[in-house]
Amino acid sequence: MRKKIVAGNWKMNKNLNEGIILANELIEKLISSSIDVEVILGVPFTHLEKITSISKKYSVSAQNCSAQESGAFTGEISTKMIQSTGAKYVILGHSERRIFHKENNSDLAKKVDLCLMDDLIVIYCCGETLSDRESGNHFMVVKSQIEDVLFHLSGEQMSKLVIAYEPVWAIGTGVTASSDQAQEMHAFIRSIFTQKYGLELSRGLSILYGGSCKPSNAQDIFSKEDVDGGLIGGASLNANDFYQIINAF
Ligand code: PGA
Repeated sequence: MRKKIVAGNWKMNKNLNEGIILANELIEKLISSSIDVEVILGVPFTHLEKITSISKKYSVSAQNCSAQESGAFTGEISTKMIQSTGAKYVILGHSERRIFHKENNSDLAKKVDLCLMDDLIVIYCCGETLSDRESGNHFMVVKSQIEDVLFHLSGEQMSKLVIAYEPVWAIGTGVTASSDQAQEMHAFIRSIFTQKYGLELSRGLSILYGGSCKPSNAQDIFSKEDVDGGLIGGASLNANDFYQIINAF
């Protein structure tokens, strides 16, 4: 059975106090529930240690890491630093980082390696732009984002990753991929991993959907065979909404 995961991506929202309040609101709900879903909070670097220390009801993720191990890289945060906060996950390849910070596949491949070296689990994001989809290139774009960044990994390394499919045109726009569009791409992504690493690995791989996922559409999207959960931006900033999504399986 694949692990079901709902991960929040707070992005650059909530100061530390506000983040603690949000985490506590969520903890209150999680305490009284027995759902078999791994809940992850993707919080700003400044919040990692505190949010990790207040509960074991969820895991904590960074939203990025440096492509360098250590040294004179002012303002950067290394995987070792992230690991030392107690965080378990790192979100990599988010389209906002690819677009606004010009991260390319070769930067991302280095970051993936550093995360694995420091026992951090990567949530690797891939997804096409609207023009990729309109020109019919969406499968090719996603395939190369996966091949270029992940295919140098051994099967053992690869089995530790989580994939998030996030069509860029659906992120923060209110437009969601239909559940059929999500299923189509998720099945395609799983087939890429089957070809490279075999059925056992691909069947065990959790593939999350992200992009305007909210309480009103999560159930439909999560009902699809190859959708194993979600990476949630806007709706993760409200404990009620996020908890409803966690319960949408
Ligand atoms: P959204 O963001 O849910 O606000 O669309 C998703 C994401 O960027 O991970």
